Amino acid sequence: MARVSINVDHVATVRQARLASEPDPVAAAFLAELAGAQGIVVHLREDRRHIQDRDVEILRKTVKTKLNLEMAPNQEMVNIALGIRPDMVTLVPEKRQELTTEGGLDVVLHEETIQQVVKTLHEGGIAVSLFVNPDPKHIKTAHRMEADYVEIHTGGFAESRTFSKRREEFDRIETVAKLGQKVGLGVHAGHGVDYQNVFWLRNISEIEEFSIGHSVISRAILVGMERAVREMIELVNG
Ligand code: PXP
Repeated sequence: MARVSINVDHVATVRQARLASEPDPVAAAFLAELAGAQGIVVHLREDRRHIQDRDVEILRKTVKTKLNLEMAPNQEMVNIALGIRPDMVTLVPEKRQELTTEGGLDVVLHEETIQQVVKTLHEGGIAVSLFVNPDPKHIKTAHRMEADYVEIHTGGFAESRTFSKRREEFDRIETVAKLGQKVGLGVHAGHGVDYQNVFWLRNISEIEEFSIGHSVISRAILVGMERAVREMIELVNG
């Protein structure tokens, strides 16, 4: 059975729309855990457009399952991670103008820099995941860098508009999930996973964990956080 981690960034998006104090992603994380989520994910972006430093600091104290801090591989974020010590860090690329993380980390192009970040985080006792496109070269590079996990970018699959394209993207994810497991990496997946397309992805048994944000928070606005999380966990586990 795959684990489900809930990304609460967009609870903070609503709060920041008014620069107010609610809704609080800390409260959302608490409800997600009550509903069975096995991890909480937050992306502390350079521009602080949703999650704030204060959120990560409080979540470190309140999350009982696993706190996964998504961040860019730069010095500012490494210093924050070493201070906060989340259970794990997921390194993601970051561009200022993007609406959300657009692609996987180019671990091949930036191998040396990312490898140094992985090493520094490991020395701080933090497990590291690399968010990568479903490309075997990137899985092999992540393995060489001694990352603990890869998170396979499922955005290309989620955004496919034809059956054949979706099938093609699914096959790419399945292939790299098998490769990741074979070389000893923990295999996670995320981006654009929703209540419909998860029917496909849950068939890839090598995926140990899904990281899901937007679809669950969107549903939570209508039906409540606990129900939205519970329904996703039920779907993931068939
Ligand atoms: N995984 C990573 C690395 C991400 O950057 C995001 C988006 O913040 C997610 C998972 C969750 O994606 P979504 O919000 O589309 O479920």
